[in-house]
Amino acid sequence: MKQDMIVILDLGSTENTAVARQIRELGVYSEIHPHDITPQALKELENVKGIVLNGGENRVVDGAAVDIDPALYDCGYPMIAIDHPTARCEKRLETLPDKETLREFVFDTCHAQANWNMKNFIEDQVELIRRQVGDRKVLLALSGGVDSSVVAAMLIKAIGKQLVCVHVNHGLMRKHESESVIEVFKNQLHANLIYVDATERFLGKLAGVADPEQKRKIIGGEFIRVFEEEARKLEGIDFLGQGTIYPDIIESGTKTARMVKSHHNVGGLPEDLKFELVEPLKQLFKDEVRACGVELGLPASMVYRQPFPGPGLGVRCLGAITRDRLEAVRESDAILRDEFEKAGLDKKVWQYFTVVPDFKSVGVKNNARCFDYMVIIRAINTVDAMSATVERVDWDVLERITNRILAEVGNVCRVCYDMSPKPPATIEFE
Ligand code: XMP
Repeated sequence: MKQDMIVILDLGSTENTAVARQIRELGVYSEIHPHDITPQALKELENVKGIVLNGGENRVVDGAAVDIDPALYDCGYPMIAIDHPTARCEKRLETLPDKETLREFVFDTCHAQANWNMKNFIEDQVELIRRQVGDRKVLLALSGGVDSSVVAAMLIKAIGKQLVCVHVNHGLMRKHESESVIEVFKNQLHANLIYVDATERFLGKLAGVADPEQKRKIIGGEFIRVFEEEARKLEGIDFLGQGTIYPDIIESGTKTARMVKSHHNVGGLPEDLKFELVEPLKQLFKDEVRACGVELGLPASMVYRQPFPGPGLGVRCLGAITRDRLEAVRESDAILRDEFEKAGLDKKVWQYFTVVPDFKSVGVKNNARCFDYMVIIRAINTVDAMSATVERVDWDVLERITNRILAEVGNVCRVCYDMSPKPPATIEFE
């Protein structure tokens, strides 16, 4: 890392992430480290220009009062404390720092350069990846999600054909999603991409399974098995690329424990398939990952896409998955996305999708009684997915979507709009 860094030492604050983000917004790279970091470990971090002691009110970590190693005070780094007074610091603050105070500390006291930007970051990572990987090969499960797509683009830039991407289509992808992964990575970026259509295999395993947790387990487990089979066919691969991002690593305010992201489902590979990890995004917050993707030339539709659960449409085709209802979910979701885009709502609403319950209701089509499925539309806004509010979608837009779903999707005679906030309802239905 050639860029200057301000280190935040976590003395039990819940605001570490907010402070790190504030510093990065000033254009200076910032990382959170545990309070008990040794002077040696601190010196090994490159280009540290200053330290923020971030202690909240009582400087408590895991129930015990804490302080940093006293030897750190003598390392010569400028320090600022965001908590109660600490005698040997440059400056004391009682509350969260305002932007001006941080700016003064970062630029006037620490003399840090505002050189944190995606262009420099990519240059750094490309060099680091080349150093780590040499002339060996990296395997990557490319789901088409934001993180794995940006990792792929970064690795392609760094090592080209030494990256082997495996895209598993579990049959629960949105309409045209696998096609767009192939178009972007194989046709445009010339990636070494293996496409596995495992639709039949997944739907076979899921047949008759109605329990949501069981469905998730089957999808996750089967994903690992398919990926493992592909990995075993390949030879001479030493590394596994992963889309780990900074929030995956800063688990909470008090621990900086390292975690391997589990929802990308490759954490469960068998012991004998041992890979060294390549995680070029592990320093980035989500919005920085997106900015990085844009800088790497990925299309906006891929980089700014809404969150999509790992088990895909499988948890939106409620109960035991059937092909006709899965198609109804996929087609109605495509219509919803198309109309949201036309209405400009795709840039405004955090997450929106359709679900199809596993029961039918009575309707009338062509002057005859019918017995068909129902589509439920959900459109929510949230900051952290822990709570969510419902988007007040314009009535005309809802009417257009409803009419299109009723006209274009077979087996559907009813469309509903979900008005439930989270809590008590979760965002997804299963
Ligand atoms: P809930 O339904 O728990 O969803 O309110 C919160 C957010 O998480 C997403 N979600 C998942 N993502 N694997 C994922 O990768 C999953 O199994 C999963 N379940 C829910 C959901 O789409 C929402 O954004």
